[in-house]
Amino acid sequence: MHSSVPLIEKYSEFLPVSSGTPVISLGEGFTPLVAATALPAKLGFPGLHLYFKLEGLNPTGSFKDRGMTLAISKAKEAGARAVICASTGNTSASAAAFSAKAGLTCYVLLPAGHVALGKLAQALLYGARVIAVDGNFDCALDLVRSLAEDLNLTVVNSINPFRLEGQKTAAFEIVEQLGKAPDYLFIPVGNAGNISAYWRGFKLFADLGKAGNTPAMCGFEAEGAAAIVAGRPLSHPETVATAIRIGNPASWQEAVRAADESGGSIDSVTDEEILSAYAQIARSEGIFCEPASAASLAGLIKHLKAGKLKGDATVVCVLTGNGLKDPNSALSVCQVQLETVEARPDKLREAMNLQ
Ligand code: F0G
Repeated sequence: MHSSVPLIEKYSEFLPVSSGTPVISLGEGFTPLVAATALPAKLGFPGLHLYFKLEGLNPTGSFKDRGMTLAISKAKEAGARAVICASTGNTSASAAAFSAKAGLTCYVLLPAGHVALGKLAQALLYGARVIAVDGNFDCALDLVRSLAEDLNLTVVNSINPFRLEGQKTAAFEIVEQLGKAPDYLFIPVGNAGNISAYWRGFKLFADLGKAGNTPAMCGFEAEGAAAIVAGRPLSHPETVATAIRIGNPASWQEAVRAADESGGSIDSVTDEEILSAYAQIARSEGIFCEPASAASLAGLIKHLKAGKLKGDATVVCVLTGNGLKDPNSALSVCQVQLETVEARPDKLREAMNLQ
């Protein structure tokens, strides 16, 4: 389904753009929807129709590019002075890349010590002005809000209205790829923008008669950062899934509405469940996603165990980011100590345990 048409042009009738909007594109969107062939049986539900939406195949390796192409195009159209964001990593990589393409200065505030290596490398190489803040994501986002107002900078976090409008295109693609909406959508929840955006997209296509039904939206926070589940902001969110290490989600209310209106829910999964799903996606299906993304499958496994799904349901798990961004998590899950073997066939056969 790959297309060289910019996402904004393909779906322009559903987006807040005009012929005067400069389109800043890196070839975002049009990501594959891949059927899981081994997992349903392994999970004990062979009749399940399970698909992964591979958002890690966007140009900067995460779903953020869908919203960022629109946010940066609109910033360019408005003649922005510069853009700024707080980020657990992926937003910063995406903002930095689209800003580079647009010729805009991009400021990035990161929670010091809690951003995966690949994301930091991306933001730096794309030329963003990266600042590590001695505080978590929520603290950095508060600072971004006040600095942006004082300095007249354009915020490109998902509080920028164009971000979620762009991100809703992922729901359009899923409907087009399946030929209908799935019964359930499983998705990680951090700042709660993406689940809100998908719900906008599914609702719009259903209203237009392009999808028969709408899916139940099943969002999953990491247990140590599950503010929505707890019903109150958390001042010290903690999880191995650093992308969703957020204690006060900006799109909280819209995400709760998405879950309620769709007949879904927002729930949590433990770090252990996330890392187990992370390895299973790689080993059973050959897909390398980042830990936060695996909260979707971890959530599906939790709901299947609790008997909450019909065994023949059509389910999409959104894999939000590419595993290559966070090699340290993969290495720590594998815990393999590589030993160097003498370069001789007999020694290799011994090491391979094959005679
Ligand atoms: N998955 C990944 C890989 C993410 O990077 C994020 C959010 C989410 C899921 C959650 O999406 O916030 O819309 O609920 N990352 C943001 C960032 C916060 O700064 O990159 P959400």
